[in-house]
Amino acid sequence: MSFPQALNSAALSVSERLSAALMGLPASRVREAMGHAVYGGKGLRGFMVLQSAALHGIARDHALNAAAAIEALHAYSLIHDDLPAMDNDDLRRGRPTVHIAYDEATAILAGDALHSLAFELCAQPGQPKAAALVLGLAQAGGAAGMVLGQALDIAAETAATPLTLAQITHLQAGKTGALFAWACTAGPVMAGADPAPLHAYSQALGLAFQIADDILDTEGDAQTAGKRLQKDADAGKATFVSLLGLEPARQRAKSLIDQACDALAPYGDKAQSLHEAARFVISRDK
Ligand code: IPE
Ligand code: IPE
Ligand code: MG
Ligand code: MG
Ligand code: MG
Repeated sequence: MSFPQALNSAALSVSERLSAALMGLPASRVREAMGHAVYGGKGLRGFMVLQSAALHGIARDHALNAAAAIEALHAYSLIHDDLPAMDNDDLRRGRPTVHIAYDEATAILAGDALHSLAFELCAQPGQPKAAALVLGLAQAGGAAGMVLGQALDIAAETAATPLTLAQITHLQAGKTGALFAWACTAGPVMAGADPAPLHAYSQALGLAFQIADDILDTEGDAQTAGKRLQKDADAGKATFVSLLGLEPARQRAKSLIDQACDALAPYGDKAQSLHEAARFVISRDK
């Protein structure tokens, strides 16, 4: 199976698990909006969970719960990221954003409910190391992780002086890196194994992923990406591209991918898919 096929097939399994979870909720406009939000992503974070779980012999059913959890949390973060108070975007995954397709109140609530659903999925009966998964997800999604990164991202728009490289790295490690770190280490966490190698992988990968996103914003094709592009510069976003320029940012992403792959050494040939995922992260056009 090629990497794109493997990614699609993982995304399909994870979206089935998410649909089943949504069907367990009472029918409502909020539930519909949640369904809209979880539909159509690349599913990379869920893929990372499934791969890291497979490397550690975790049962498929438990891996799928964790994969669905991180995709639910990610979908929540995107709904809120697109709101008028944040990035004010009307297009995501080739379709209207949730507050456009529904309304702002429904979008906020659908985000809130997806956030809750993520924890519910981690805490299913029989889920291995559920407490550790929940603790990690709370930290990754919270004010020391994704929310911190998002807050720094918004604050940078009106900062008097441009952020330094160290500050941008810190911002992006929170905004993007924290959820990737949770996804990549879910396998060892559930197995009670050492998460250090996959944590190192995820740190480098998450940063490279966000640099690729920032490069896409500059020179990507909006139709292919399924979201509005060429917005970061006007909004005053602090990115590697804004600080270093396009080519050095590209070089940095490449060397981060080499670093990510080096961190997989303890897994040998078994980590083939994670090597491919790393290369995909910087070559993607959406
Ligand atoms: C977009 O993430 C938000 C960022 C952190 C840059 P993805 O590019 O993984 O979005 P989907 O889930 O595939 O739509
Ligand atoms: C969003 O980053 C990151 C999170 C939602 C945590 P961006 O604002 O760069 O993502 P896009 O470009 O809207 O997908
Ligand atoms: Mg944003
Ligand atoms: Mg955005
Ligand atoms: Mg972006």
